[in-house]
Amino acid sequence: MCKQNLQEVALETHDRVRKKDQVLKEFKIYRWSPDHPNNKPYLHSYFVDLSNCGPMVLDALQKIKAEDDSSLSYRRSCKERICGSCSMNIDWDKYCLRPIDADTSKPTTTTPLPHMFVIKDLVVDLTNFYQQYKLIEPWLKMKKPPKDGREYRQSPSDRKKLDGLYECIVCACCTTSCPTYWWNPEEYPGPAALLHAY
Ligand code: SF4
Ligand code: FES
Repeated sequence: MCKQNLQEVALETHDRVRKKDQVLKEFKIYRWSPDHPNNKPYLHSYFVDLSNCGPMVLDALQKIKAEDDSSLSYRRSCKERICGSCSMNIDWDKYCLRPIDADTSKPTTTTPLPHMFVIKDLVVDLTNFYQQYKLIEPWLKMKKPPKDGREYRQSPSDRKKLDGLYECIVCACCTTSCPTYWWNPEEYPGPAALLHAY
């Protein structure tokens, strides 16, 4: 779903539920802590009042962490689909940023990106993913450094040449959805890294 559609769905859902007194939604969230390595991972249920919560699943996670359980771990930064750090598995699909499904008859299940080593709860180890990304050439290089020795500048027309090729935010959703990557993560760099070989 594109950013525009995501925003529309989020706002429409938010508008509907915030007019009500209380809309309790169950969130089942994957929990595992390295502090108790022998305990198996499990899904913990949290109930969030959607009438008093932002429109995105990330808002619900923030509310749970702030008001209910500060031990819950997940990554986030921009909350704008720019940094890619909040990627996770929501209702068995990979997402970074997703609107809350306001249907309270079923829970929203949130687990880490698949086939990755879990560091804690929804946080996975992306070391291999980033190393593979770094290995790929060509990345954009200047033939000569800027004459004034300052930063590398890009004109709007040069940037336009990259439209459609350079929007990847390195969220790892595609790579961690790829069965070939699951079976050969040491050998196969995965779609996100290959995209940068264009
Ligand atoms: S190409 Fe892959 S890593 Fe990049 S934004 Fe899309 S899903 Fe995320
Ligand atoms: S927090 Fe940056 S893309 Fe989700």
